[in-house]
Amino acid sequence: MMATKAQESPAKTATPTKSRRKAAPTRRGQGGSTGVAAMVGVAAVGLAAGFALNLGRKAMVQAPSVTAGDWLAAIKLEHKAALALFDAILGTDDTQVAKRTLLLAQLKHALGKHAFMEENAVYPALRAWGDKADADKLNHDHGYVKQALYELENLDKDAPFFIEKATSFRAELDAHIREEENAIFPPLHAGLGDEGNAKLTAAANKEGFKMA
Ligand SMILES: [Fe+2]
Ligand SMILES: [Fe+2]
Repeated sequence: MMATKAQESPAKTATPTKSRRKAAPTRRGQGGSTGVAAMVGVAAVGLAAGFALNLGRKAMVQAPSVTAGDWLAAIKLEHKAALALFDAILGTDDTQVAKRTLLLAQLKHALGKHAFMEENAVYPALRAWGDKADADKLNHDHGYVKQALYELENLDKDAPFFIEKATSFRAELDAHIREEENAIFPPLHAGLGDEGNAKLTAAANKEGFKMA
């Protein structure tokens, strides 16, 4: 027998409306959404704290270069720091595998940051100033710095020729540094003037901070 309209209506009215369901959420649903919101909140706070912490760490890494106050002075400081790390590596013996690995990682980070800054701020300024040939040559050298780092990283740290390889790499890096500091950068520094040097200092710090 078919139900009449009158018989159907009580069932329809018994069905909770959308708004009633919303007004009386289940205990599980309530706890779940609050839990998710809390988790998202905690994650956001964690992310913000991590971000702030990382910014602080980057600022500390970049601080010596910023404090130098001038792009060329900062570059000289970074060169000195890289060579000091190199000397620390050369001061290790074949039994100090962990120390070599750590120092090499630090050297790779320092040289990576330094190269990123030079390639994105100093060498483009050098080309714009008119010395394309030297900028291209220095940029080419950086490829081989990365190559030497790659080869050192892939050597066994207790290999008898590790120090030999590191010594020849240090000499190549030192030649690149001498060329920058003594021959190529001073004319650029003299040619840019106060305003140009201030602009390049700001650009160098900005790029250095990205990789710090
Ligand atoms: Fe360089
Ligand atoms: Fe350099």
